[in-house]
Amino acid sequence: MIAIASDHAGFQYKEKTKSLLSELKLEFKDFGTHSADSVDYPDFAHAASEAVSKDECEWGIIVCGTGIGVSIVANKHKGVRAAACESVTAASLSRKHNNANILCIGERLVGWGVAEDMIKTFLTTNFEAGRHTRRVEKIHLLTGR
Ligand code: RB5
Repeated sequence: MIAIASDHAGFQYKEKTKSLLSELKLEFKDFGTHSADSVDYPDFAHAASEAVSKDECEWGIIVCGTGIGVSIVANKHKGVRAAACESVTAASLSRKHNNANILCIGERLVGWGVAEDMIKTFLTTNFEAGRHTRRVEKIHLLTGR
């Protein structure tokens, strides 16, 4: 199950993400927002991140204007490793090296073609483990996970 969320600035890409995930036959849960009306991104980023933190969802895809605000929010949640990415390479490495479980996208910074490829890459790239396991464990030294 994939948690998806956005604020108003990421609303169009969230809707496109829903279509893409449906095409790929992947299940998702939409934590809002549900229109392009102005809202506060932490409200929606917290909801989707909590679902990942509680293992109710395996993955998250969260969109705002830059991807930055929602990534800051998401990374406050225990067990969440959120990556704000602007390239397919970054999305791939966030999985291979960081075992990221939430992809954050900036609708105002990245074209939809790149965003679509980042989503596909993020969801199909495995963590490389090995030396990266020790490093990822150290990310969670303060919270245990
Ligand atoms: C909203 O204008 C914008 O600030 C928000 O979407 C996001 O980019 C914040 O990081």
